[in-house]
Amino acid sequence: MDCIEIEGGMPLHGEIPISGAKNAALPLMVASLLTDEALHLSNVPHLADITSLANILAQHGVEIDVQREGGDIGGDVVVMRAAEITSTTAPYDLVRKMRASFWVIGPLVARCGHAIVSLPGGCAIGTRPVDLHLMGLERLGAEIELAEGYVTARAPKGLVGNEVEFPFVSVGATVNLMLAASLAKGETVLRNVACEPEVTDLATCLIAMGAKIEGLGTRKLRIQGVERLSGARHRVLPDRIETGTYAMAVAAAGGEVVLKNGVGRLNSAVIRVLKQAGVEVTEVANGLQLIKNGARHKGVDIETEAFPGFPTDLQAQFMALMATCEGTSKIRETIFENRFMHVPELARMGAQISVDGDCATVTGIERLKGAPVMATDLRASVSLVIAALGAEGLTSVNRVYHLDRGFERLEEKLSAVGATIRRVRA
Ligand code: EPZ
Repeated sequence: MDCIEIEGGMPLHGEIPISGAKNAALPLMVASLLTDEALHLSNVPHLADITSLANILAQHGVEIDVQREGGDIGGDVVVMRAAEITSTTAPYDLVRKMRASFWVIGPLVARCGHAIVSLPGGCAIGTRPVDLHLMGLERLGAEIELAEGYVTARAPKGLVGNEVEFPFVSVGATVNLMLAASLAKGETVLRNVACEPEVTDLATCLIAMGAKIEGLGTRKLRIQGVERLSGARHRVLPDRIETGTYAMAVAAAGGEVVLKNGVGRLNSAVIRVLKQAGVEVTEVANGLQLIKNGARHKGVDIETEAFPGFPTDLQAQFMALMATCEGTSKIRETIFENRFMHVPELARMGAQISVDGDCATVTGIERLKGAPVMATDLRASVSLVIAALGAEGLTSVNRVYHLDRGFERLEEKLSAVGATIRRVRA
């Protein structure tokens, strides 16, 4: 298995291009199931998760063409056309690899009147049930049955709009219901929805496809179902999690870097916290500029929250940064119950972190030391890269396939700004 080796201690200087957002591109791709016309997506990051979802969509009958976009941002243009849905079943073998594939259930039942989709199962960061997705589809009139690990959803006469109130915010359930309600009969009102920028990006694309959605960016979405949707062209928004990740990499390693295409308003909670820690962050014409001199950063307390709060997808990276802060930092994870798996790996590099339930207390030390470490999930793995960039000596990060799921050209982007990082092929 490949591993990534990093020799720490090199400050970073230059420009890092920010790719299109994985978590926006995935639901946008699923939206292709709603129409028999072509959906053109540009700025799609070139990642393993995107390829996995493309394979899943292909087995439902979606024709997919992928072309490199070129330019320094990279990315792909993906053209998808679901002229005919050839299968409404999403088998276990495909769904278990890729939780986002559960989203096919909403559009399939809306367009075809039935769908059989494997339950995604648990995953490393928590149990991650889909009860809110199913409750929402039932409210739109789908009959739901669970048997032998599969969900069968039936609505032979089509879905019918209704009021759906989510008991807590779920990105996935909001996406699924928004997709389904776009083709339901009549009006759907979704309350307490996620207003993550990726959800809004999906709504913008659905509107371009002819959907009638009001309330973008708020906790209430009003959707008038339409009989059919058309094709559209849409550019995926820049990845705020990749932006925040590289911002923390610069903060950990020191230096001066422009995150090209990074968008301040998508990252305001993170920028506020980084400034409190002593990192200079400025919006410049082509992105976000990060400056960190040699001084140690200060400890800052955070709590993960739904957008616009501090994102759970940056919690591990922030903990790696706090491992060398002055003082202490309390980090509370409120979204997923098991998202501290990076703690023992950071401890191998000398970090002093104690965990009590959903709260980790980090006592900053002067410098981490390189060590062999193991990636456990996507964001946890990149937190080890951040720790390694600021550490003394050599770190080898094993199980890097996790990184390939969500970070496009990671080694290339970091070595271009002066990091000593390389992939060792097994
Ligand atoms: C999305 O996951 C993202 N995934 C996650 O990013 C992200 O961490 C998460 O939203 C929160 O921002 C994609 O966009 C592909 P949720 P999702 O539904 O939709 C519970 C990454 O690293 N819940 O908002 O699965 C759930 O268990 C990934 O890129 C239910 O109980 O997240 C969790 O505790 C990881 N029942 C909480 O809600 C449900 O029916 C929030 O989950 C649905 C969710």
